[in-house]
Amino acid sequence: MGTLQLDVTDDARTRQAHQALAASRVFGRPWYEPPSFEETAIDWRYEDKAEPKEIWVAEDGGQIAGVATLYLPMEDNTWLAWFDLHVHPDHRRRGHGSELMERMAERAAKARRTSLITEFKVPVDAPGHEYRRFVERRGYALNNTEVIRHLELPVADAHLDRLDAESRLRWSGDYRLETHVNGVPAPLQQSLCDVMNQLIVDAPTGDIEFEPESMTPERYAEQIDVERRMSRERITTVAIDDTGDVVAYTDLVMPSGMPTTVFQWGTYVHREHRGKRLGMAVKVENLRHLQATHPERRRVATGNDGTNSWMVSINEALGFRVVELCPAYQRKLS
Ligand SMILES: CC(C)(COP(=O)(O)OP(=O)(O)OC[C@H]1O[C@@H](n2cnc3c(N)ncnc32)[C@H](O)[C@@H]1OP(=O)(O)O)[C@@H](O)C(=O)NCCC(=O)NCCS
Repeated sequence: MGTLQLDVTDDARTRQAHQALAASRVFGRPWYEPPSFEETAIDWRYEDKAEPKEIWVAEDGGQIAGVATLYLPMEDNTWLAWFDLHVHPDHRRRGHGSELMERMAERAAKARRTSLITEFKVPVDAPGHEYRRFVERRGYALNNTEVIRHLELPVADAHLDRLDAESRLRWSGDYRLETHVNGVPAPLQQSLCDVMNQLIVDAPTGDIEFEPESMTPERYAEQIDVERRMSRERITTVAIDDTGDVVAYTDLVMPSGMPTTVFQWGTYVHREHRGKRLGMAVKVENLRHLQATHPERRRVATGNDGTNSWMVSINEALGFRVVELCPAYQRKLS
């Protein structure tokens, strides 16, 4: 028993931690494909100065039984710490989760954070689920709930064509769309970062009020480079106005170790450019690119706050269906 910080340069230990994490994440979720060890190791070894992470493990008889990853934003939202905690199903109910949870609170307090946030996946129809009880008994309160939806691929071309034609009636002539793989070109990066930084402010997130993020072209390039080393592919469609600025974007990410899954990452339309179906436009264009270049991918997974009716209606029109929930819980530390 006991917890310690993982030495991420130790391949054997890192592999064990990856296995415990994958076993926990797939438990009760047969559709889940874990990322590969190689991808995970690159991610864990990448030092993001804007958001350093600490990986803590719980041991059971020399084996790694649980993994907690703590994220400490340094340039925005410095009042909070995020964490993700998993215990291998074969090692649960032995106190590892509680120990790691205590370690997270201790580390966050030491870093002078006043709020700890965690999220996890649960079935839709399980209000008293054990994962919820686990955090609720440890001082966490529900803040908001994302609904996770999947879109089975391929989406019929005729369906995409219809949605595209409907949206173009509202924006055609005022904007142009561009699709880029593994990062947008340098002239678009600053305005893309500007819109990306607003996403966390405008997306509904319960009672927590987030500050804008602090993505810069330098950090963006660094992240794209990490993804390239992880053999991930990111497809980005942007809408550009007549000044040449990005005013809307959407990202699809394909992890290399998850051969059939695609993650929908952020989608955002600048406040002054809303109401013109640009959200639908960038999503349809990105999906078309995805389907043309990656016929092996079977589904796109996305999460939206239950109250985000604008984004949810776009996703439902595309054909996304509810699969599970991702509640976010917060514990105040001061
Ligand atoms: C939630 C999770 C982290 C708990 O891990 P765990 O190692 O089983 O946690 P613990 O053993 O410390 O506690 C779990 C329960 O087992 C009980 N328990 C602890 N030792 C026990 C023992 N020896 N015998 C029986 N029960 C025991 C605890 O009292 C606790 O019950 P409670 O929550 O009702 O108070 C784990 O189920 C998991 O990885 N879930 C998936 C990811 C997730 O949901 N994470 C939560 C986000 S923080």
